Amino acid sequence: MLIPVDLQGRGYPIHVVDGDLSLLGAAMAAVLPTGPVAVVTNPVVGALYLDAALQSTAAAGFQPFAVEIPDGERHKTVQTWARLVDDLLAAGLRRTTPVVALGGGVTGDITGFAAASALRGVPLVQVPTSLLAMVDSAVGGKTGVNTRLGKNQVGAFYQPRLVYAAIQTLHTLQPAELRSGLGEVIKHGVLADPALFELCEAQADASRHMRSEAPLSDAVLGEMVARSCRVKANIVGSDERESGLRAVLNLGHTVGHAVETAAGYGALRHGECVAIGLVAETRWAVSRGACDAGLASRIEHAVRALGLPVDPPPLRRLDLERAVGYDKKAARGMLSTAVVERIGAVHLESIDLQELPHMLSHLSGLLET
Ligand SMILES: NC(=O)c1ccc[n+]([C@@H]2O[C@H](COP(=O)([O-])OP(=O)(O)OC[C@H]3O[C@@H](n4cnc5c(N)ncnc54)[C@H](O)[C@@H]3O)[C@@H](O)[C@H]2O)c1
Repeated sequence: MLIPVDLQGRGYPIHVVDGDLSLLGAAMAAVLPTGPVAVVTNPVVGALYLDAALQSTAAAGFQPFAVEIPDGERHKTVQTWARLVDDLLAAGLRRTTPVVALGGGVTGDITGFAAASALRGVPLVQVPTSLLAMVDSAVGGKTGVNTRLGKNQVGAFYQPRLVYAAIQTLHTLQPAELRSGLGEVIKHGVLADPALFELCEAQADASRHMRSEAPLSDAVLGEMVARSCRVKANIVGSDERESGLRAVLNLGHTVGHAVETAAGYGALRHGECVAIGLVAETRWAVSRGACDAGLASRIEHAVRALGLPVDPPPLRRLDLERAVGYDKKAARGMLSTAVVERIGAVHLESIDLQELPHMLSHLSGLLET
């Protein structure tokens, strides 16, 4: 399946394929001239898929070479980025040499930023291999690394020339990582695609009966990825640099990021925090009369039954308020936030920062001391 991202002259295709990486090279050759190509990956994904990526690109006429970066969020740093740029240049990178990011969101974000900055920009190809990367991070052009002061503090908007999501690569993904991606899939359904949300609900019912760790078929995963990419592509196509509408993609993230930070990075996966945030922010929307209580229970049911958490672990209210950027003495100003109306419809609202503690109070089990 081919999903276009429409960006006035810089548009690109997203391929969502039922199979493996064997047609990656052909898809690249359709949009890029053949020649040397750098394939960047980490040891975990490299052990599984590097050979396939090298073979496929070579068969299409490219001369691929591999560059390795370390695995894991703790390596998503300025140091890893700088080292990668050095390694690419040392391997003979030219302005025309495409760089392929083969891996999850961490690999995609670091490699994307290296492609944006090395030689002031070389062609980038995103080959996401985690569900979260397929449905979210590989699409839309946000790249970057973390600094001591926070996540994604250094980076660039830099669009790829092609995204290639091969559904079969998800077979080797840990079930917990798969569930994390499902958090963003549910969010996309709530945002803009009722049929996608219903697909999630249907799987939720199936997984309850099967009690299986990974009950989703390739066909269902393929449809989830394609529908999510379409939702994100439409939003990014109308607001590439988040000057307005793109902020709806942050649904669930105001509370989700606070939970992620207060729990300590690594304690919960990103998609789990988004699921917790989605539930709390919908309960908050109910309390403001934006939607009815039935909607909050419907979302909660889908989240729970897909194996994602609805409530955070015990967290201190004060830590969450700090994490969300709220300080009782200094809270001034407004925040643009997505408010759910019904499945498939949200609107952006500018809310007073004083509202944040109310939003957080819709999380269960907060500790007051
Ligand atoms: N750029 C954006 O718009 C955007 C959006 C959302 C999230 N992100 C970023 O994405 C990152 C999270 O991405 P993630 O959840 O993919 O994490 P990740 O890249 O750390 O991948 C999770 C783990 O799964 C492994 N893995 C990946 N694919 C695999 C496969 N097919 N088989 C076996 N193992 C595999 C990875 O090596 C890693 O160990 C965060 O840094 C987040 O900030 C970026």
